Amino acid sequence: MDVISVIRTKRDRGELSDEQIDWVIDAYTRGTVADEQMSSLAMAILLNGMNRREIARWTAAMIASGERMDFSSLARPTADKHSTGGVGDKITLPLAPLVAACGAAVPQLSGRGLGHTGGTLDKLEAIPGWRALLSNEEMLNVLNDAGSVICAAGDGLAPADKKLYALRDVTGTVEAIPLIASSIMSKKIAEGTGSLVLDVKVGTGAFMKTLDDARELASTMVGLGTDHGVRTVALLTDMSTPLGLTAGNALEVRESVEVLAGGGPADVVDLTLALAREMLAAAGLPDADPAKALADGSAMDVWRRMIAAQGGDPDAPLPVARETHTVTAPASGVLTRLDAYDIGVAAWRLGAGRARKEDVVQAGAGVELHAKPGDSVVAGTPLLTLHTDTPERFEYALKSLEGAYDVAPAGTEFSARPIVLER
Ligand code: URA
Repeated sequence: MDVISVIRTKRDRGELSDEQIDWVIDAYTRGTVADEQMSSLAMAILLNGMNRREIARWTAAMIASGERMDFSSLARPTADKHSTGGVGDKITLPLAPLVAACGAAVPQLSGRGLGHTGGTLDKLEAIPGWRALLSNEEMLNVLNDAGSVICAAGDGLAPADKKLYALRDVTGTVEAIPLIASSIMSKKIAEGTGSLVLDVKVGTGAFMKTLDDARELASTMVGLGTDHGVRTVALLTDMSTPLGLTAGNALEVRESVEVLAGGGPADVVDLTLALAREMLAAAGLPDADPAKALADGSAMDVWRRMIAAQGGDPDAPLPVARETHTVTAPASGVLTRLDAYDIGVAAWRLGAGRARKEDVVQAGAGVELHAKPGDSVVAGTPLLTLHTDTPERFEYALKSLEGAYDVAPAGTEFSARPIVLER
């Protein structure tokens, strides 16, 4: 087998055979296919697509590139969720302990943020002492002790994806549905969860800008999960405006703790509960009541145990940025649009995210919203507060907010998009 013939097959709109797929994934993982050759193949796949058989085989080859985890020793059924990424998407933080409080075991392998979407691990690292890197044994211990664990995927899990995702990130080949679906599902299947709920984001702040693309990604991933014996469900959820009232690491931890304490913004609570119900049903616990577990403090108890088991201090004050800048409403009326992408870019430019993998994020940086679409605003009163340790970033962040919001005259009809668009 040679790589040039594999690239030519896809370049010329052909179908890759099972043998070609197995060979190229294995050779790339071992380093005998070079980055420039794999990036050429990734671009051919982005332009010409793959059919269901090719995607299934590609996913299986990426799973086979590494180890598979085994949670069969746990007494509880396992449930996991994956979000395709959005702005202010802190849902994993309250969701994992909530579902654990209702009786499932939640092994949540998460990632770091790159670009305008935040990463769950970056958020949790705002908590003093908290550790993302756990050995497999430590991960099982936290799961057994607390019921949920949120940690980084080890190097042994789908190493082909680790290498390929880093390459796609710098070669303009992330936005290909076959590559996104196989990347996400290879890690989730290798992780060994029994059930999986996918939160596929749709809107300006998401990879998928249209419902049609989101449906295709969701159905591809559900098919892959089901074929591998993982009970998989997908919700399509709105990402045209940020989730909740914060985008930024410590800011989002604070908001998540508010949700666990029974408060927090309605959209975050609603989405957390919708995903929790799906996870519990998929795990065979349809009668569990997540609203009760939020209200009676049992989800908060799991959160505190989980954070402490990973070295964090759940009572420690969260980092606060050194400087703030207030953006005021330009007119009085109804806020009709607050763009998720623009807010995400502003938070990133303030230091909440990274431009390169090796960048260090600021724990306190980000954007706080004082109104959401549909709210009334008064000219000159605060609309957004920008937070950063490095005030020279304000100017650059403010540029991304030009055109990020619309205020219409008081009395203008406004109908909010529901948070869950489709199942
Ligand atoms: N998240 C992943 O893990 N992989 C992708 O390709 C895109 C988002």
